[in-house]
Amino acid sequence: MQELILSNRQIEDICKKIAKEIDLTIQDEKKTPVVIGVLKGGVNYMLDLIKYIESPILTDYIQISSWEGMQSTGIIHLKKDLTLDIEDRTIILVDDVIDSGYSYQYLKSFISQKYKPKNIYVTCLIDKQAERKIEVKIDFPGYILKEPKFLMGYGLDYKEYGRNIGYVYVPDKEEIDGYDDIIANGK
Ligand code: IMP
Ligand code: MG
Repeated sequence: MQELILSNRQIEDICKKIAKEIDLTIQDEKKTPVVIGVLKGGVNYMLDLIKYIESPILTDYIQISSWEGMQSTGIIHLKKDLTLDIEDRTIILVDDVIDSGYSYQYLKSFISQKYKPKNIYVTCLIDKQAERKIEVKIDFPGYILKEPKFLMGYGLDYKEYGRNIGYVYVPDKEEIDGYDDIIANGK
């Protein structure tokens, strides 16, 4: 059986709450802030979140990868760079989950070194604290998960499956085996 972690309704409430906090933080910015979604997992959260931000913002996307199947490889690659010039602007980085913290560390240092933004704030839908490897400062955490669980849905995938599901849950073995079968059969 699936274990529900966040329903669509809970996700919507988180988006509204975080958008308010972001609005308060960016309301006096001189240059328009840029909200950056981390592909692919952060996109579902990004698109729902920005609907509730009332201040003017720009949006952009960046893609990295470090996960394979159910675990992080620890080695991070940049797959897609930004398209806007974000120098001197305030950045809000939006990701689905912060787990080990390695992606966070990579993204913050890559963006600040290459683009020299004014500052970088970070929000994630789920702050998965159990397997944190490095200290991270999450400015706007959504939901805090203390137990080490593998999650799917709402951007979170198992071998690219499940991103389209509207809520976040812990899959059971049967579901995981089902995806492995699909892949093994080349479907
Ligand atoms: P970190 O680098 O270990 O902090 O992992 C961050 C990224 O790994 C997240 O942005 C997700 O894309 C992915 N990730 C972390 N935990 C999970 C999970 O439980 N299910 C699916 N993907 C995850
Ligand atoms: Mg991600």
